[in-house]
Amino acid sequence: MDRSVHSLLKENNFMMRLEDVLSEDKIPATEVERQYYFIDVAKQILEDKEKEAGRKLTFCVNTFGCQMNARDSEKLIGILEQVGYVQADSEDADFVLYNTCTVRENANNKVYGHLGYLHNKKKKNPHMMIALCGCMMQEEHVVETIRKKYRFVDLVFGTHNIYKFAELLVRSLLSESMIVDIWKDTDQIVEDLPIERKYSFKSGVNIMFGCNNFCSYCIVPYVRGRERSRKPIDIIREIEKLVADGVVEVMLLGQNVNSYGKNLDEPVTFAQLLEQVEQIEGLERIRFMTSHPKDLSDELIEVLGKSKKVCKHLHLPLQSGSSKILQKMNRHYTKEDYLTLVDKIRAAVPDMAITTDIIVGFPGETEEDFLETLDVVEKVRYDSAFTFIYSKRTGTPAASMDDQIPSDVVKDRFDRLLSRVQAISAEKAKVYEGKTVDVLVEEINQHDASLMTGRMSNNSTVHFPGEADLIGQILPIKLVECKGFYYIGERV
Ligand code: 5AD
Ligand code: SF4
Repeated sequence: MDRSVHSLLKENNFMMRLEDVLSEDKIPATEVERQYYFIDVAKQILEDKEKEAGRKLTFCVNTFGCQMNARDSEKLIGILEQVGYVQADSEDADFVLYNTCTVRENANNKVYGHLGYLHNKKKKNPHMMIALCGCMMQEEHVVETIRKKYRFVDLVFGTHNIYKFAELLVRSLLSESMIVDIWKDTDQIVEDLPIERKYSFKSGVNIMFGCNNFCSYCIVPYVRGRERSRKPIDIIREIEKLVADGVVEVMLLGQNVNSYGKNLDEPVTFAQLLEQVEQIEGLERIRFMTSHPKDLSDELIEVLGKSKKVCKHLHLPLQSGSSKILQKMNRHYTKEDYLTLVDKIRAAVPDMAITTDIIVGFPGETEEDFLETLDVVEKVRYDSAFTFIYSKRTGTPAASMDDQIPSDVVKDRFDRLLSRVQAISAEKAKVYEGKTVDVLVEEINQHDASLMTGRMSNNSTVHFPGEADLIGQILPIKLVECKGFYYIGERV
């Protein structure tokens, strides 16, 4: 145990209590109770630390990556707040936690870069603790590097034991050396721990964890483990509670929501789940992310066609337009399958915005393959698209494929793709100019406080003059001017 904490605790006799408190027979057996117990213990340790510091201690959680990580961070923040830490606006905080992403190499480099900067802060603040979690920590070579080169880090944990955060925090608060706890996998889903939502009126809801697809470029299945679906009843209860607490929009989250429910004792399809969620009174909007084209069923398209609440936005990652590359990517669909699917969706829901992810420069991609991708972009006319340069992820099959593409070729293709994607997005957005649409008001505009920022059903952003008391309401807004990928609007 850390000396300073040791003597501090001894002073008020907390030490003896703590030894007692941490004996296994005192700790509750069920996981949720166990974690609440550790929240209480952490609270007491923190109170002692605050006495020593003569002030409240603060925290900052910095989140990288996807919506799943954003949701996980809300859970981590919920626990830190329960423990008694006060949220700081910047990394000038006493507990800094990075929830990392590793989907592309540059995400990793960013974290290493930030760590050097945090080290300098830590030298000046004796109370400062640094913790790392998330997908990047599930990679062995990363943890090795942190152990060797970043020894000032206090706590490292992964994606599978995130629900143990309170317990790990206690261990770390009481230790002078780095605590590292990484699990290879888990079949556990632990619910009902504290959570601090970023927005009062909308929320992400995990419906499943992990991924079984093993797209050959992707590291996610290795760091997030196998697919596990939550039971519909647990999801519905969570959403009902959120709605009672003021939430009007939910985003159902999973790496591949279209394969939801396959591994449950009583299998349920994603379409059936959506129908159940639709019944929840008071819930106005439903979004979901992400859909894999190979699993998008006719049943789901029918539900999308009927639904009053599912938003007019479908994110349907293409990755490549070349059937040859798609096969090497292990995507299980061809260019033609994808285009047929888009036609079916548009026939059922004509005003559905379709967005996508595209990777450029996958091993073996020829100019002809790339032109196939451009062809799909021209045919589908995406409302928007995230374009990525292929990033080699150690341990994935694609990393050891021959014929990695030279970076100047990739850069040229990337630029050509981006310019087409952006031009088409702008043309598509222009069509809505002059129309009046429902907008969920989300926040005060970050650049101009006289404007409010909100989102249309199709996920486009609208800025309009208004007051902060409109936040959380769904209002009809006239789209006065299209500015490329966002609109300036006015209340009607
Ligand atoms: N390189 C580039 N992009 C990738 N993605 C996933 N793995 C890689 C990789 N190795 C992209 C995919 C996915 C999105 C979340 O990230 O397009 O849909
Ligand atoms: Fe990665 Fe493919 Fe799973 Fe998406 S579906 S997380 S791209 S392996």
